[in-house]
Amino acid sequence: MKLRNMKYDNAIKIDKDIYWIGWYKKEAPLRSNAYLIKDESNDTVEVILIDPGSVPDFPVILKKILQVCELKDIKYIILHHQDPDICASVPKIEELVYNIGGSIKIVTHSRAWFLIPFYGVRSEFYLIDFKGWKLELKSGRVLRFIFTPYLHFPGAFVTYDVKTKTLFSSDLFGGISYEFKLYADEWYKEAVKAFHEHYMSHEDHLRFAMEKLEKIYKKYGIKRICPQHGSIIEGENKVYEYIQLLKNITCGKYTSVTDDLKWIERDIRG
Ligand SMILES: [Fe+2]
Ligand SMILES: [Fe+2]
Repeated sequence: MKLRNMKYDNAIKIDKDIYWIGWYKKEAPLRSNAYLIKDESNDTVEVILIDPGSVPDFPVILKKILQVCELKDIKYIILHHQDPDICASVPKIEELVYNIGGSIKIVTHSRAWFLIPFYGVRSEFYLIDFKGWKLELKSGRVLRFIFTPYLHFPGAFVTYDVKTKTLFSSDLFGGISYEFKLYADEWYKEAVKAFHEHYMSHEDHLRFAMEKLEKIYKKYGIKRICPQHGSIIEGENKVYEYIQLLKNITCGKYTSVTDDLKWIERDIRG
């Protein structure tokens, strides 16, 4: 993998059958990463899209999807929560796939299922909390889902691909920064801290999730973390560092904002 001069205009292979198909623009603080798994066995292909993104990003994401697979092979879309930067383009993908006779299942948590239909999504839902927190593909490959509640949505979860030991972490481990590299450098820790301090409500929730991920790391290994914003954290040692980082930060920064009710104090004083 060449870290320098990497071109982001095309899909980028990050493991044998996993691709980054994200949206990149130079001057943007919050870029969205989408990912694609192309699972092949014998004569079957099953494509899984992960957090495919927003309406404005869709032309770019579609171009990258078409570089690596056929639309008819898209069988599942994993939506880690209901935010528009994750889900809003799903009706557009559905239209293309259903028009050629394909069909899709939306993989999500039941809390997000309450909200996702408001985008106009029409596919059948596969609710992970009623399916044993796993999805088994035709090849036998298993995706396991780990519940990360309140980070930053009650039904938030992350996906662990057992085959490649890849963790698709959605907003967790995301970063906010004007700088962008597909693979995390030392600077990325500051971007992660900034994002979590503001977007995650409380460190107790973060520690609860990190303890789960640490168990998985120790028992099965996590080779890389693929977040929905920011950079991919590649390599077991780096993954461990970032789990420790998030165990030890303070969140909910906006609760220290106090100037919104100054008018009440002013009114009380007369
Ligand atoms: Fe989000
Ligand atoms: Fe997000």
